[in-house]
Amino acid sequence: MMRLDKFLSDATAYSRKEIRTLVKRRAVVVNGAAAQNADMKIDETKDAVCVNGVPVLYRKFIYLMLNKPQGFLSATEDDRDPVVVDLVPDELKHFAPFPVGRLDKDTEGLLLLTNDGQFDHELMSPRKNLYKRYYAELDLPATPEDIQLFAAGMEFKEFTAKPARLEIDPENPRKVYVEISEGKFHQVKRMCERAGKNVLFLKRIAIGSLKLDENLECGKVRELTPEELALFGW
Ligand code: URA
Repeated sequence: MMRLDKFLSDATAYSRKEIRTLVKRRAVVVNGAAAQNADMKIDETKDAVCVNGVPVLYRKFIYLMLNKPQGFLSATEDDRDPVVVDLVPDELKHFAPFPVGRLDKDTEGLLLLTNDGQFDHELMSPRKNLYKRYYAELDLPATPEDIQLFAAGMEFKEFTAKPARLEIDPENPRKVYVEISEGKFHQVKRMCERAGKNVLFLKRIAIGSLKLDENLECGKVRELTPEELALFGW
């Protein structure tokens, strides 16, 4: 059971003040009858709530897939640069989603956003050992020795990169796929630099078994499907 105003402020973009006004105007209907008070108790699992005739589905958490464009920071706010949360459609902004992990400002591709702290924690946990797959374009061709170098892991000043997979496009060895299970600062770029190559373009194309939806245009956001969430055991 929960208060009607809490239910509506969790599940819609209405403020508490707007909800009180809607209730006064008899625009909020619970199980077919106009709600008398904004603080009435309802059962969020059973009661049918409509606002202005539109049914409201209760939910507290959202899970979004963004095809991140270049030029956006993986943050909720910033004084100078645009942030990924700016790309969330207005009707979902009230859920206050934040990015799960980070992509560099100039990196594109798959970024998840949620307002569920536990989901974020689970995905970021090192024991989860979740592989992230990147497509990269390099300034120089990758070589079979680079595959060994990546597979051996690498020592950096502040961290040790675990063994990573490098796949080289047989048609064009400047195009590679890199899979890492961690996400240390600039990790893919730094591992490529260690192999003597600069990354000119970087895009994340999968997190674990979740692939970036090829039909999702760059800069667009959509909700994860129940099947996609199940890939993370959620
Ligand atoms: N590795 C990088 O170097 N940059 C990213 O954005 C992600 C992984």
